[in-house]
Amino acid sequence: MKVFSEIEQITSAIEAFKVQHLTIGLVPTMGALHQGHLALVKNAMANNDIVIVSVFVNPTQFDKEEDLKKYPRTLDNDVLLLESISKDMIIFAPPVKAIYKGNTVSQIFDFDGLEFEMEGRFRHGHFDGVGTIVKKLFEIVKPDNAYFGEKDFQQLQIIKKLVSKYHIPVHVVGCKIHRESSGLAMSSRNTRLSVTQKDEVPFIYKTLKTAKKHFGTKSANQITKWVTKQFENNPLLKLEYFIIADVDSLKELKRKSKNKKYRAFIAVYAGEIRLIDNIALN
Ligand code: PAJ
Repeated sequence: MKVFSEIEQITSAIEAFKVQHLTIGLVPTMGALHQGHLALVKNAMANNDIVIVSVFVNPTQFDKEEDLKKYPRTLDNDVLLLESISKDMIIFAPPVKAIYKGNTVSQIFDFDGLEFEMEGRFRHGHFDGVGTIVKKLFEIVKPDNAYFGEKDFQQLQIIKKLVSKYHIPVHVVGCKIHRESSGLAMSSRNTRLSVTQKDEVPFIYKTLKTAKKHFGTKSANQITKWVTKQFENNPLLKLEYFIIADVDSLKELKRKSKNKKYRAFIAVYAGEIRLIDNIALN
């Protein structure tokens, strides 16, 4: 296992791999790794000669200073967890100044409107921050393949847009949502849930599954009303949004079209903890 913190270290390793025509898979993360991240890493390992996992808590994608401060930084544990699946990979964990060179600001992107839907409405500047760091990582690592989870489906679509708009030669691979046995989507935030909240939050995925069942026979509007009601009747969870949207435009579904794919997206607060999830509907 190699852990690099300097750009020069990773750049020279990558130059050597490129000379040997080895394929490189990149898994960008912010650390605090869990089994959901490991599923991405395993996918990368199965399909590339070299796997690089970046661990970088990216300041420009946080809209609240407090969230950035509170974000768990557990590099030693992350290394151990990755070692438990293989020692044959590179971890790239640079300090903020190596990446941003004293100018910790986002590039401003035009993602053809994808950035204004859902998470973009509630987390201002978030996707400029994500675009900025992912573009920088692609420029440094020059991966053949890069792995992102469908857990953050909007982010995945935005990265695909970034790559096509900037003609970045990387294949973006979307990976299925990894869930706890309760159905709860795995997330670094789950460790902050109290015992009572932990018992309650599987309700989110249960509601999504029922919404999916209704999708064949009910309108998006009827389903949205039904979901809203379920959360109104739940004192422990507060619904921020539930939206059924077209997977390509991420625009809210008004009238179903036969050859389009739709997903339901949800954001919920359990106390202070914000959780997101989504499900394919057709
Ligand atoms: P982070 O939240 O650490 O997530 C890293 C990657 O793991 C993302 O692609 C995310 O979608 C995926 N992931 C997280 N939980 C998952 C789950 N339960 N199932 C499947 N995949 C899951 O997303 C980020 O970091 C950052 O925005 C980043 C892309 C690294 C840019 O800073």
